Amino acid sequence: MKNLILEGFMGCGKTSVAEALSKELGIPLYDTDTGIEERSGLSISEIFERFGEEAFRDMETDELKKLTGDEGCKIISLGGGVPVREENRMLLKKLGRVIYLKAPADLLFERLSKKEEGDSRPMLKDHDLMGRIKSLLKDREGAYLAAADLTLAVSPDMSVEDVVFAVRKACGI
Ligand code: S3P
Repeated sequence: MKNLILEGFMGCGKTSVAEALSKELGIPLYDTDTGIEERSGLSISEIFERFGEEAFRDMETDELKKLTGDEGCKIISLGGGVPVREENRMLLKKLGRVIYLKAPADLLFERLSKKEEGDSRPMLKDHDLMGRIKSLLKDREGAYLAAADLTLAVSPDMSVEDVVFAVRKACGI
């Protein structure tokens, strides 16, 4: 089996779905944000504050490059902005099968408006939340679709287990 890669906007459920898939399938999990935090010894917010967004984006590309050298199969959860760079999309094609978890703006808003969710995400800081979600989604939708081998619509009534089931069914695993 190839790596199974989850992409999508902040709050779409990548992390929870990747964790559950990893557990169910007994396949190791890799989260690009966690990888960056562990390697730098800094939180994502600290990296944005100290070095800025471009430096963080370079770290994301380095994560993907590092992953292309790995052996074995993983469930990979991507930070929401990873597919935006064309170079990253090329690396993703080499890395495995990309599943886009596509959630509507109002569901993302509901999840991201919880304090603990919004506070850890520098891209949302100091913005009108709904406006920011809509404009980033608009900017990124093309990149998500271009990177995706498969798009799965995530609706408010779907639990993590429902999404995991849908991913497994769609991928035949
Ligand atoms: C970002 C998404 C975050 C994290 C960083 C930037 C983005 O990951 O990589 O805060 O630009 O969409 P999640 O999608 O896991 O929240």
